[in-house]
Amino acid sequence: METSPRVKLAPSILSADFGRLGEQVAEATKAGADYIHIDVMDGHFVPSITIGASVVAAIRRWTNLLLDVHLMIEAPERQINQFADAGADIITVHIEACPHIHRVVQMVKGLGVKAGVSLNPSTPIDALKEVLPFLDLVLVMTVNPGFGGQVFIEDTLDKVARLRVELDRRSLAAELEVDGGINAEVAPRVVRAGARVLVAGSAVFHSGQAVAEALAKIRASLS
Ligand code: DX5
Ligand code: ZN
Repeated sequence: METSPRVKLAPSILSADFGRLGEQVAEATKAGADYIHIDVMDGHFVPSITIGASVVAAIRRWTNLLLDVHLMIEAPERQINQFADAGADIITVHIEACPHIHRVVQMVKGLGVKAGVSLNPSTPIDALKEVLPFLDLVLVMTVNPGFGGQVFIEDTLDKVARLRVELDRRSLAAELEVDGGINAEVAPRVVRAGARVLVAGSAVFHSGQAVAEALAKIRASLS
């Protein structure tokens, strides 16, 4: 019988205490996180402004985990170099921000960084059809991007399931990541639908529990 691949957990530091970001990243690392998910927002593609490459470089010094950098910015091709230099291991751009997505993906890979593409809830998976073979990761937004702490959009479950079928049918290895409203209740359902990397912000850093307990709770929900 085929054993299913281990699901990866990617705490999003958007909900961490920015005053002690390094320590919070170290806590998540010690607690068994797989990636550190870093949300970059520019105030244009999404309303908020969060962090830039210099903060990614600072986080780099607190963990050996892969840094999973989610760029919610317009014209990401202007910034990719900076984030690669800062130590990003995975750079994910939004397809809605990239008319020349093939070129952007090649640019990321040319820097020796894994390339991801993200889809907003209203963007159909067909938009990825041609570029899918070149991707290391597909990020399905399960809320509209821009803020932590939003409620999971139930309709995205079906989209995750359809993307899983498409990846498997074409024998493509891109990791399927979900982001937004993921907690211990939602986690087993997105994994059943086919997700393999789970981003969680408020459920890890704002749960009223220690980071380790919060992560363990999500992990336990999957067994
Ligand atoms: C939202 C960000 C998410 C956010 C998730 O636009 O991309 O990564 O931090 O936060 P939660 O898990 O609280 O929905
Ligand atoms: Zn994110």
